[in-house]
Amino acid sequence: MGKASAASPRRHPPAAGRTPRSPVPPTRPDITGQTALYGVLGDPVSHSLSPVFWNAGFRALGLDAVYVPFHVPAGRLAEALAGLGALGVRGVNVTLPHKEAAARLCTTLEPPADDLQAVNTIRLGPDGALHGANTDGPAMYRLLTSLWHPVGKGAPLPLAERGYRAALRGGEGGTLPTSSRSVGKGIPAVPPGPVLLLGAGGAARAVLWSLFQAGATVIYWANRTAHRLVCPWSAERTQVRPVPWESQALNEVMVESTLIINATSLGWRAEDRLPVLTAAPGPGQTWLDLVYHPASPLQQAARAAGARVIDGLDLLLGQGAAAFTLLTGHPAPLAAMRRALRRHLAGRSRA
Ligand SMILES: NC(=O)c1ccc[n+]([C@@H]2O[C@H](COP(=O)([O-])OP(=O)(O)OC[C@H]3O[C@@H](n4cnc5c(N)ncnc54)[C@H](OP(=O)(O)O)[C@@H]3O)[C@@H](O)[C@H]2O)c1
Repeated sequence: MGKASAASPRRHPPAAGRTPRSPVPPTRPDITGQTALYGVLGDPVSHSLSPVFWNAGFRALGLDAVYVPFHVPAGRLAEALAGLGALGVRGVNVTLPHKEAAARLCTTLEPPADDLQAVNTIRLGPDGALHGANTDGPAMYRLLTSLWHPVGKGAPLPLAERGYRAALRGGEGGTLPTSSRSVGKGIPAVPPGPVLLLGAGGAARAVLWSLFQAGATVIYWANRTAHRLVCPWSAERTQVRPVPWESQALNEVMVESTLIINATSLGWRAEDRLPVLTAAPGPGQTWLDLVYHPASPLQQAARAAGARVIDGLDLLLGQGAAAFTLLTGHPAPLAAMRRALRRHLAGRSRA
């Protein structure tokens, strides 16, 4: 590991004008020059939960490795990626706002990063080559598959545990198509009936891809900024129908849809609402939310109206577990990672 790593056990005096942080973080004498280094590049990145469950995964497997957040401002991604090989970093995750820029900077793109033109995981080759992958889309596909085709009690993402490649090859859930040639030919995994997708950012694109893979027949799609509703895929059995954001039509499809997916940023703040909607999902409907804030007002409203609510935690773990396996070569210890995440979130909501 590089001498100046963020997790170096050596303590430095505070810079002039800064008060030292209290309490002093514990030193990590277990981190040595042999320790394998992984991390996540983002801006902002301090909120990222990935270090919590990645480091729990290393501990559970007894691996000499550490995962740290790297704050990389927009515009400096190319510099940061170019330096990773020289620092001996084995692999990184990439988060907002870098996923699309990372896809342009990688040497190779593994499916489905090529379809999505977005990368959330980069494996460093021995020659410094950057091999980009996307585990968000497959994790969402796995989540949809496990919700409607459960493979066993308490195993919501069974294939993620067996590894990303195994997940891509398929298993209990069938074959997962991974290139644009096979979009829409996966095993139907969504419930019969229309799906309403809210949002058109990077995460929504991965959701849309997975809905094609999962064989959704009708996808209603709404976003505050209408011109972003451009679908790059087509499939015989799937229709995508844009719905205006501030419209009665959105109320109507909200009532009609069996599955509603919130892929907007709404739900992190107490005041967040879907202001144009008078309808709320109810019994017989599922509200699948990418937000994993336990107090999301949107999730609370859906729950109060009788809908089944699934938050974004399984998706977060699913994409993280697949990336863990891809970068370390070890099956992700999902149970230990989930425990660490739940404990961390419980501690945060108590604080
Ligand atoms: N659970 C997980 O593993 C996971 C993974 C990735 C993302 N996420 C979550 O998914 C959400 C979207 O992430 P992203 O990467 O797609 O972000 P993004 O690219 O910035 O997209 C944000 C989306 O939210 C919409 N939006 C933002 N503020 C809004 C408001 N006040 N009213 C209505 N719509 C609003 C945007 O609409 P406009 O186009 O009109 O701006 C856009 O559709 C975030 O909450 C993120 O935390 C979760």
